Amino acid sequence: MARKRVAILISGRGSNMVALIEAADDPAYPAEIALVLSNEPAAHGLAHARRARIATAVVDHRPFGKDREAFERALQAELETHRIEIICLAGFMRLLTPWFVGLWQGRLLNIHPALLPAFKGLNTHARALAAGVKQHGATVHLVVPEMDSGPIIVQASVEVRPDDTPQTLAARVLDVEHRIYPQALKLVAQGRVQIAGDRCLVDGVAVPTADATP
Ligand code: GRF
Repeated sequence: MARKRVAILISGRGSNMVALIEAADDPAYPAEIALVLSNEPAAHGLAHARRARIATAVVDHRPFGKDREAFERALQAELETHRIEIICLAGFMRLLTPWFVGLWQGRLLNIHPALLPAFKGLNTHARALAAGVKQHGATVHLVVPEMDSGPIIVQASVEVRPDDTPQTLAARVLDVEHRIYPQALKLVAQGRVQIAGDRCLVDGVAVPTADATP
């Protein structure tokens, strides 16, 4: 089966992007990274993508002001030029409109540094510590118009340690992110993920526990 053409959308560092690129280096992986697109011209991840000889594009959101759909039409033009089939948001710091999300329903993934539905939004690690949770983690989910919502594809947890700071916790969660994002993209690229109401089914079943997913 042809590998699915994937765009990774970034705004900054791009460590999840690197994890996806490395996974897709394996010819047996069912997706290829066909485009890295950033809304930030200075995003560090762009340089890495160029070194990896991956096509890159910049669509700066600033000239579009408050007109989010106009910005997204420019994104969409790039995605069409590169014949993209699946999008992975990886630290992409723009909210997407229902119009754009609808265009990509079931083919638009995001990674969030918390065990959703807990700790949507920013500063998840500090908030997890403040809440005293014992387990924290990361989630890859399909994107719906509400931020950090949408059917969960893969989730994995880390234990919170008594001496954790937001930084130490973030580092352990980031390792988990780099492991589960390639797993989730693989499942979607293989066509094994179905949406059933608010949930994802993988191979026809709801994912039973956090770490049991391939
Ligand atoms: C990650 O923690 C991701 O979960 C969140 O933004 C961060 C991006 O990091 N959505 P990177 O750019 O992939 O290194």
